[in-house]
Amino acid sequence: MAEGFSHSSCESLEYKLVLHMGFNLISGIHSPEVVDQIRNFEIRDSDVFVITYPKSGTIWLQQILSLIEVKGDVTATNDQLNSERVPWIELLNSEKQFVSAPSPRIHVSHLPYKFMPLGLKQKKGKVIYVARNPKDVLVSYFHFHKFANMLETPKDFDTFFEKFMEGNVFGNCWFEHVNGWCSHNDEMNFLYITYEEMIKDLQSVVERIASFLGRNLTPQQLNDVVEHSTFKNMKNNPQANYQQVPVILLNHQQGAFMRKGTVGDWKNYFTVAQNERFDKVYQQKMKDVPLSFIWDMS
Ligand code: A3P
Repeated sequence: MAEGFSHSSCESLEYKLVLHMGFNLISGIHSPEVVDQIRNFEIRDSDVFVITYPKSGTIWLQQILSLIEVKGDVTATNDQLNSERVPWIELLNSEKQFVSAPSPRIHVSHLPYKFMPLGLKQKKGKVIYVARNPKDVLVSYFHFHKFANMLETPKDFDTFFEKFMEGNVFGNCWFEHVNGWCSHNDEMNFLYITYEEMIKDLQSVVERIASFLGRNLTPQQLNDVVEHSTFKNMKNNPQANYQQVPVILLNHQQGAFMRKGTVGDWKNYFTVAQNERFDKVYQQKMKDVPLSFIWDMS
């Protein structure tokens, strides 16, 4: 989540969650002042925002969108990290940086709907929302907390499970994040995709993204995007796997950003009681969400 970061932009080792307008930001990484400016950013029709709750495949979308922009030619992405090609909007230093960027401006964000540019509601720009089975998100996030130096290392899985359920993490409550964005889908130019669809049929998701963005790629170019976005190829690609994120942020001895890349890992972690409790909360909180979720919760 702090990728695309340089040493100089990390202010301190004193990272902690700080509540800003009901949302946890990470002090030393996010600036509340800049986050507040985002709502008033002037949006161009060509702007693209990929929105995710943490650990839902953000890095995957950064890679796919980087490649779509160069028509699948991976050599054209060698000079820059995918997190620089598709940066985090909440990590911008100022509005100036956003305003002066050339079109098309393509960003990722974990911010909730309430912070996003108002221009999106006038159907300017495009939003791609990526969701993942929250049980797998929880497990991935548990590992990420051990690996990320800017997040508190959890005592154990059970402790982290409680933190996640309380929304006491960066990203806050998963249910609110998905609900907030997806219940406003009609207001925006909005494409909704899931991590699980990408695992099942990456080719067709890449085609949907390219078509949503109005990018004309030949079948061969689309194949190349898919080929260079597989878990294995991203894991081996230093431009794509975040291994260049400074140690001050990610302890590379403790893990890897490209960890496992599978569906259903939660079954190796959840107790029966945790699973039943999660299902109950899920059913209650997701009953009014207007989009369908294809993952198998059992
Ligand atoms: P796991 O920890 O379950 O392996 P984010 O970028 O939002 O933090 O998401 C990271 C998660 O997406 C990690 O999940 C990572 O392995 C997975 N991921 C990234 N690229 C992927 C790919 N090409 N194929 C499958 N999973 C991928």
